[in-house]
Amino acid sequence: MSTLQAVKYSRGSLQVLDQLRLPHEFHYDDVATSEEAFDCIKSMRVRGAPAIAIVASLAHAVELHNGSYHQTSSSSVLSYIHSRLDYLKESRPTAVDLTNAINRLKARTNEVAAGEGESPEDIIKTCIEEAERILEEDLQTNLSIGAYGADWLKDTVLASPEKKVSVLTHCNTGSLATSGHGTALGVIRTLQARDLLRHAYCTETRPYNQGSRLTAFELVHEGIPATLITDSMAAALFALQKEKMNIAAVIVGADRVVRNGDTANKIGTYQLAVLAKHHGVKFVVAAPTTSIDLETETGEGIKIEERKKEELTQISGAVVRADGSVDASETARVATADQRVGVWNPAFDVTPHELIDAVVTEKGAVVKNAEGRFDFSELLPERW
Ligand code: MRU
Repeated sequence: MSTLQAVKYSRGSLQVLDQLRLPHEFHYDDVATSEEAFDCIKSMRVRGAPAIAIVASLAHAVELHNGSYHQTSSSSVLSYIHSRLDYLKESRPTAVDLTNAINRLKARTNEVAAGEGESPEDIIKTCIEEAERILEEDLQTNLSIGAYGADWLKDTVLASPEKKVSVLTHCNTGSLATSGHGTALGVIRTLQARDLLRHAYCTETRPYNQGSRLTAFELVHEGIPATLITDSMAAALFALQKEKMNIAAVIVGADRVVRNGDTANKIGTYQLAVLAKHHGVKFVVAAPTTSIDLETETGEGIKIEERKKEELTQISGAVVRADGSVDASETARVATADQRVGVWNPAFDVTPHELIDAVVTEKGAVVKNAEGRFDFSELLPERW
């Protein structure tokens, strides 16, 4: 079975899967400039914190490779590169992976430019290679998150006689949100590969339906035993869990984990954390260290993106024929509310660290210290 791929890259060429057309249609767009990447990210054709950072970095690399710049001195090439990167950073504000990738590319090109007699070509080559490293490292990072997450759950919630665990996840954190395997969904994949997973539940994730459109699709594609629920069914599911469902943990990804552990993730994550606490279900954030923002002290400092009202009042999908089959070639956009109604549409919310049991990264799982706070100093000594 082939793994789903959000991006296809070779030097000088980037193709990005248009996730707005999923799960009905598989279509890759060529993305060859910073403007095209900005539009692709802003319009949510690619989404998920790591995937956004990867697309921005690689599109810029493609642009450089194809020589669409006119500067000839090292300093003008450097300032051109940095201005393109600063522009890309503005495409979406909440996921910190994008900022971290851009800072990494800027730092690396600064380093080379500061060297003796470095040519514009050296700076460009360095920037392209660093962007490619961001892509390569991400897959390994996700595999490690999967392993640490599965270990943590095994040690924490898989007490005898339970041999397998059921989990709930929210939004999409799989192959389509990363370079492959995924973060929270990567933990679920690893549980399944180790025969430790009984069942995965995924929420629809209104209003943009990343859960039903993407996660459900990935779970079916991978043959993982799964059930889709609407976001409003989570409490009922937890209430039943003691007798029937036995859900041991909620596992979600992150767009930004700040210094005290407060975590911004897809809207609806916070309410799941509250429900999990009430029902004695563990709440786990699975995210790469590139999603950790040590510059911001608490969740209050996180900028939450608000999106347009049509994402709430309209929906698009493939047409269902009278016999129940889906016609993927015909899509329609339909109104689901009075178009004049006022709308509040924050794309993310912040889960307070008090409600989070563990933050699982590629370097290991972090739990709260005796004072009830997350301390990432051992995990990230160089950034602390
Ligand atoms: O608005 P989106 O679809 O980009 O939001 C995605 C999420 O919130 C994910 O949960 C998060 O980015 C983690 S992706 C591994």
